[in-house]
Order: sequence, then structure tokens, then C-alpha cells
Amino acid sequence: MKKVLIVSGHTDLNNSFANKIILEKLAKDLPEAVFDYLDKEYPDFTVNVKAEQKKLVEADVIVLQFPVFWYSYPSIMHRWMEDVFVHGFAHGSKGKALQGKKLVASFTTGAPEELYVKDGPQLYPIEELVIPAIKSTANLCGMEYAGFIYTGGVSYASRPDAEQIKVMRAKAENHAERLEALLNEI
Ligand SMILES: Cc1cc2nc3c(=O)[nH]c(=O)nc-3n(C[C@H](O)[C@H](O)[C@H](O)COP(=O)(O)O)c2cc1C
Repeated sequence: MKKVLIVSGHTDLNNSFANKIILEKLAKDLPEAVFDYLDKEYPDFTVNVKAEQKKLVEADVIVLQFPVFWYSYPSIMHRWMEDVFVHGFAHGSKGKALQGKKLVASFTTGAPEELYVKDGPQLYPIEELVIPAIKSTANLCGMEYAGFIYTGGVSYASRPDAEQIKVMRAKAENHAERLEALLNEI
């Protein structure tokens, strides 16, 4: 059976709505998967490089689960990647540890999906903003980019609205289901 590692890049899951629901549903439905909550592991951003490299080495499929912050993944996930995906481990002539593993991106945005269109309010489709760096990372590390799951319109600005909360909960649960289906396929 393939081993799935789900890395949560939310900077504060205690203050999350969508990513929290997604991760809770995944944890319930995928008891065999390993969950790596970067905000809980490294509240001061001091990453245990060896421990994180071990988790990656043991996985066949790596899921990056995050809220989009400034059109990219949040700071804690950048730090994790900078410290862990180093030359000699993840890339370079002797850096073969991640070769052949599958990389999946799973992310949410506050702005609704329909704003992420060419020349629209957000200027670019979401897959042109978030996905290129992830694809290039996979490519550099000899990994296989295996697709993305995306949900927009889960804004903290909508949290006081009970109707919006229902809609956002349903979207987050549906997100987890779509991710589970992708993980089944790959
Ligand atoms: C620092 C910061 C930057 C953000 N940048 C973006 C952004 O670039 N595009 C966007 O659509 N939403 C942006 N958002 C909204 C988040 O993506 C949204 O709140 C998150 O996906 C909801 O997930 P959560 O409920 O798990 O926190 C940003 C939020 C914060 C706090």
C-alpha cells in the first residue's frame, strides 16, 4: 500500500476554518496516512531537518496542504522547504532522496474561484499562480507532480455569516473528498 504524507502548511490551525475541516476529514478517512502539522511542530520556525527528511523518505505520495497566502504557500511551509529540500538530499548529483515520489498540491483561497481568471481581478488563473513553482520543485527533485485540488471562496471575512459558514463547511468537506479520490487514483 502506498504511504501518504500530508504536510499542513497553515501557520495557525487553531485559527483556521477550511484547512482544519479538510485535515480533520482526511485524518478520519485516511487512518494510514501520516500527518505533519508544521505550525504545531515548529511554532518558532526551527525545523527539525533530519526528522522532516525521514518523513519524506518514508512516503510514496507527499501532499502539500495549505491556505494560499500572498499567491503562494505560507511562510512556515517556505521555511520547511528551504531547510529540508536541500542540495545533496532533494537535488544535485547526490540528492536523490525524493526521486520517484508523487507530489500533490491541495490548497484554499479566500477569493472565490471565479476571480482567478486571465485578466480578471486576480489577473491569472490559480494554476498559473500557485502551480508553476510546485511543478518546478517536483521536476528539480525528480518527483512526479501528480495534480492539485483547489477550493476558493473560503474567506475569514465570511466567518461571521451563518449561511456562509454552511457553504464553506460543505466546500471544505467536498475538497477533502476530491483529494481522497485523487489519492486513490494515483
Ligand atoms: C497573510 C494572508 C495572505 C492571504 N493571501 C491570499 C491570497 O493571496 N489570495 C487569496 O485568495 N486569499 C488569500 N488569503 C486568504 C486565505 O487564503 C484564506 O483565508 C484561507 O485559504 C482560508 O483557509 P483557513 O480557513 O484554513 O485559514 C490570505 C490570508 C492571509 C491571512
